[in-house]
Amino acid sequence: MGDSQFVLIQGGTVVNANESIRADVLVEDGIIRKVGENLSAPEGARVINAEGKMVMPGGIDTHTHCQMPFMGTQAVDDFYIGTKAALAGGTTMIIDFIIPQKGEKLADAYKKWKTWAEEKVCCDYSFHMAITHWDESVRKDMRLMSTEEYGINSFKMFMAYKDVFMLQDHEMLEVFKTCREIGAIGQVHAENGDVIEENQKRLLAMGITGPEGHPLSRPEEVEAEAVLRACVISNQVKCPLYVVHVMSKSAAEIIMTKRKEGAVIFGEPIAASLACNGTHYWHKCWRHAAAYVLSPPLREDEGTPDYLMDLLAQGHLQCTGTDNCTFNSSQKARGINDFTKIPNGVNGLEDRMSVIWEKGVWSGKMSPERFVDVTSTTAARIFNIYPQKGVIAPGSDADILVWDPDRTRTISAETHHHAVDFNIFEGMTVHGVAEVVLTNGKVVVENGEVNVTQGSGKFVPNLPHSPYVYDLVRTNENIRIAKEVKVERSAEDMFVDMSKLDLKPEPQEPAKPAVEPTPAGANGATAKAAPRQAENYDDPFANHRQDNRSVVDSKPVIRVRNPPGGKSSIFF
Ligand code: URP
Ligand code: ZN
Ligand code: ZN
Repeated sequence: MGDSQFVLIQGGTVVNANESIRADVLVEDGIIRKVGENLSAPEGARVINAEGKMVMPGGIDTHTHCQMPFMGTQAVDDFYIGTKAALAGGTTMIIDFIIPQKGEKLADAYKKWKTWAEEKVCCDYSFHMAITHWDESVRKDMRLMSTEEYGINSFKMFMAYKDVFMLQDHEMLEVFKTCREIGAIGQVHAENGDVIEENQKRLLAMGITGPEGHPLSRPEEVEAEAVLRACVISNQVKCPLYVVHVMSKSAAEIIMTKRKEGAVIFGEPIAASLACNGTHYWHKCWRHAAAYVLSPPLREDEGTPDYLMDLLAQGHLQCTGTDNCTFNSSQKARGINDFTKIPNGVNGLEDRMSVIWEKGVWSGKMSPERFVDVTSTTAARIFNIYPQKGVIAPGSDADILVWDPDRTRTISAETHHHAVDFNIFEGMTVHGVAEVVLTNGKVVVENGEVNVTQGSGKFVPNLPHSPYVYDLVRTNENIRIAKEVKVERSAEDMFVDMSKLDLKPEPQEPAKPAVEPTPAGANGATAKAAPRQAENYDDPFANHRQDNRSVVDSKPVIRVRNPPGGKSSIFF
């Protein structure tokens, strides 16, 4: 047995996304070695009694922003505090976002984030990369980022945060094309940044400066429009799409509909959108209201969290993150007189698992297996780290959560492990407590204590061509290839009878008003009605028609087989 470190988890119910079984789990040196009944403890093994508990793969939070510099300040949960809070709640891996400044080289931003993370993380981690500007060098850099050395297989585009991170549609198209080329996943923050800017100006001019201005400037349809636009653009180039932080019913419905139509799209609600609504923005206490400011915002429609949970339980939405990006009240106060300056972001890393258990499983909407699926397994599959992560099986990393489904706790900023001074789930009593947590085979949570080592987490490269995603892409590709067939036409098929076409150039007359103006006081006589074609309306195709006329009149592009009056055809 040598110096091996063994942990034996005995007597629990192992819950994976596909099934639950009564089994023991043996861990050796950070890897799950055996899953089975009545396993015996090797000499020196740590034995954990999981009788009456569930043994699950640790959570994977697909969306975090640890120590993110944003809106003139920096998120207070750094990679140490953020991952410590994560472990306390049963999450054993995070996928954080590298967000280059506009114009910054991807590799430079990568180095910066990697250094921040490496020295602080207490659990395993990987990265998504945001694309915040576009030129051909970015395409090259995306290819580099997707190599094993960098390990990035997902690229996020912001459709909001105009002039800061936002991309235009034609730039998104290029990013999607490049993702498709390298086997990556295109991600979007879906909100219409132009509309938001216009709304913000209008609301501020009206004197609406408080946090309520935030949702008013970013209504639901502004999110839904962007989701639809992203679905359409990505689908044209057959790039798989992952919509981060799904916040509204209509956004979720678009994802559901497009998936039914066969598009490869994944939707990620977050702990906040699954448990909170937007009525907080109208809270009298500014500090309270500002604490809920994130983008896209929570929705005033109080049925939204339940609805999103229903879709998640039923498989119409796929996995969950938190968008954990925390700012203290003093930081939020940057926007005390102007809601557009309130740093956007909320907590969630510690409480995601409990909140989803409470609202999903305890409420009866989803099974424990589906819970594992939406908190861990599907994320591992999409981002191509399955079965290393996301399952309790021999050979997988020993990121394990021993979950007490019956115990309750009440969430509070007083007791949470975050650095932030507010908790958006404050006062919520939730069933489901992380009793014991192992990260890479080490017990880090036990008896309510969190014992972590700063910098001990490892980077997990996310490689491109995730089979879970790209098998679907290929299926769709084949369906499209079958449709995209050229119609073969002979010269005879191409014949168009042009005998009735008037090829004489039209006299170029100066434009006349459609209706003769009635001279003021002209004996009450009415003006003569102009013919129908000349009616006074804005013809949206007027220029286009004019263009066509000049094409028809220009000799080099037409060949007239027979002179006018006889048989003729046009070949373009
Ligand atoms: O409000 C949010 N979501 N803050 C973090 C940045 C982002 O948009 O994901
Ligand atoms: Zn975002
Ligand atoms: Zn985010």
